[in-house]
Amino acid sequence: MEFDDRIIAGHEKESDTWQYSLRPRLLSEYIGQKKIKDNLSVFIKAAAERKEALDHVLLFGPPGLGKTTLANIIANELNVNIRVTSGPAIERQGDLAAILTNLGDNDVLFIDEIHRLSKTVEEILYSAMEDYALDIIIGKGPSARSMRLDLPKFTLIGATTRLGAISAPLRDRFGVQCRLEFYRPEDLAFIITRAAEILKVQINPDGALEIARRSRGTPRVANRLLKRVRDFAQVQKANLIDVQVAKDALAKLEVDSNGLDKNDYRILNTLVRTFSGGPVGVETLAAAVSEEVETIEDVIEPYLMQLGLLQRTPRGRVATRTTYEYLGVPWNPDGKTGTADKQEQPLFGDKS
Ligand SMILES: Nc1ncnc2c1ncn2[C@@H]1O[C@H](COP(=O)(O)OP(=O)(O)O)[C@@H](O)[C@H]1O
Ligand SMILES: [Mg+2]
Repeated sequence: MEFDDRIIAGHEKESDTWQYSLRPRLLSEYIGQKKIKDNLSVFIKAAAERKEALDHVLLFGPPGLGKTTLANIIANELNVNIRVTSGPAIERQGDLAAILTNLGDNDVLFIDEIHRLSKTVEEILYSAMEDYALDIIIGKGPSARSMRLDLPKFTLIGATTRLGAISAPLRDRFGVQCRLEFYRPEDLAFIITRAAEILKVQINPDGALEIARRSRGTPRVANRLLKRVRDFAQVQKANLIDVQVAKDALAKLEVDSNGLDKNDYRILNTLVRTFSGGPVGVETLAAAVSEEVETIEDVIEPYLMQLGLLQRTPRGRVATRTTYEYLGVPWNPDGKTGTADKQEQPLFGDKS
């Protein structure tokens, strides 16, 4: 499967860099995620008043929900510098030591994909986070000795799509932990409207809401869909994106009324038709659709679960009655008779 080419993939693609210009710079411009914003604004204010570094912050949630954006906003609101790196980029202990010793007081260090830090790097991060000190070994063999290096007070912001892949000792050292939620369509419509202004495209509220509903609760997807819909509108010489323009364009892009594409359908169909609705282990499901377990778990499943189309159980993945209805397959639990309430859904698009 070609998840990388999916227009509705949550993770960042090279063609998404234009979206950087859309990134809000202040907490007040950051749409949605109210609980997180409310808490963070208190912590930021308190830290600033005490002239101390903010507690370490862990941001987790599916790709495209605004983790990197939020990290930059935190640094901006604290009025400190931010140094950006990622788990895989820090290969050796020395790499991390070089970054940490170059930070200024109260600066933010942002480590994206923090679940991909190597074990040895992670180990020296513990004392850095807890005591603002690094214990490093100098030399080799019998003459090796340990040296303690003092560091500036700093705030580590870690971001991850896989909370489960972070070790308990690392996770426990984050004083502030925020789970980002999928966005409500109204919030995404707001983000789309704002992006449209910047892109100088005309869109009306219903058009924005139509794109929002198909954006999988994800701002990155919302912005991307807007840009594609704009292309269709332009070629059709429509100078306003309204519901109809949005619907037609998204049908052509093969994104259905809930933001599912053929890859989602393939997984759901495999679950329902090949595995009789489960339970089926994620490894087996992944093998059946030739996809990596990690992609299924991080990118595909969270949104399907949100829609109630898939459940994770200790025995494996399970389809729900809603899944059967969505696919137009008669629902027949435990051999009892029962049929789907709804007629077969159109595979793509909403022809209403
Ligand atoms: N709360 C938000 N309000 C407005 N735009 C947002 C918000 N969150 C994300 N975005 C937009 O979505 C894009 C992707 O967000 P990003 O922070 O890169 O996601 P993540 O790091 O979680 O993958 C950003 O470039 C920005 O344009
Ligand atoms: Mg990011």
